Amino acid sequence: MDKPLIFITRKLPEKLIEPLKEIAEVDMWHSEDKSVPYSILVEKAERATGLLTVLSDQIDENLFQQAPHLKVVANLAVGFDNIDVEAATKRKIVICNTPDVLSDTTADLAFGLLMATARRLIEAAQYVKANQWNSWSPYLLAGRDIHHKTIGIVGMGKIGETLAKRTTGFDMNILYHNRSRNIQAEEVLHATYCEFEELLRKADFVVCLTPLTDETKHLFNERAFQAMKETAIFINVSRGGVVDEEALLKALNAGEIAGAGLDVFAEEPVNADHPLVQHPHVVSFPHIGSASIETRTKMITLCVENILDILHNKEPKAVVNGEVLIKE
Ligand code: DGY
Repeated sequence: MDKPLIFITRKLPEKLIEPLKEIAEVDMWHSEDKSVPYSILVEKAERATGLLTVLSDQIDENLFQQAPHLKVVANLAVGFDNIDVEAATKRKIVICNTPDVLSDTTADLAFGLLMATARRLIEAAQYVKANQWNSWSPYLLAGRDIHHKTIGIVGMGKIGETLAKRTTGFDMNILYHNRSRNIQAEEVLHATYCEFEELLRKADFVVCLTPLTDETKHLFNERAFQAMKETAIFINVSRGGVVDEEALLKALNAGEIAGAGLDVFAEEPVNADHPLVQHPHVVSFPHIGSASIETRTKMITLCVENILDILHNKEPKAVVNGEVLIKE
């Protein structure tokens, strides 16, 4: 019998995908940093039983229509807004992701971005490198304090909770907004649940961690930024689509908020001439939330395990559309 075909959309370390090779034919895109063109992805999917995808791959109804053997898509991310999950579920295709293994690393980055933005760390490093440091002056590159301030976390899932844990070492007051109450965060970390508007009004740092869905698209709009303090700093480590970028730019230019730290953009990769990237009060990163060597290794390993589980008719560890696994 022919081995099932697994197509991997980015070049990944051979060692990590070896377990797949024992029971499947593995076809891997040759580039580590260039996306596979959509037309080739669809062509590959035609014969594939499984796909190992990254967050910039568009996995849609059209692809599913042309992939009659497809059983599983394992996305190398916790977010899965690049996948039409409803269309997959209709066809009983299992969608897997990589939760939990990246929570600590992403929370570290979120807090690092918050610190970099509030304390102007990137500007300061560039200042020294550019040989601009001529004398000491009292307010040279003075930023804003983080300790004893109020953080407002929008989206209190695993990453939110892990970030909240980090902030306790800085004696921060923690507010959060989420679809449902997070009792663990309230009891253990003393986080206080707030309505969205109240959080925006009270927080010194507003951190967006909510996934991109139809409901959260442009959640951070003109009204949201107007509700924030003039001294507030906005941090986004979720998805660019949760933010109306024009409204953010307007708010920064009008002094309605003080700054922003952005790890994600509506269009990625973002162009260097994007007005938000060039804005003096914005720190931007190239979507590196979970990018540590250890965590990326864990994420790839989890994707491989998820696919192997499906090939062995077992329940994978991380399934987005569990209803597909329920036997009728
Ligand atoms: C995710 O896993 O969704 C992150 O955005 C990747 O860094």
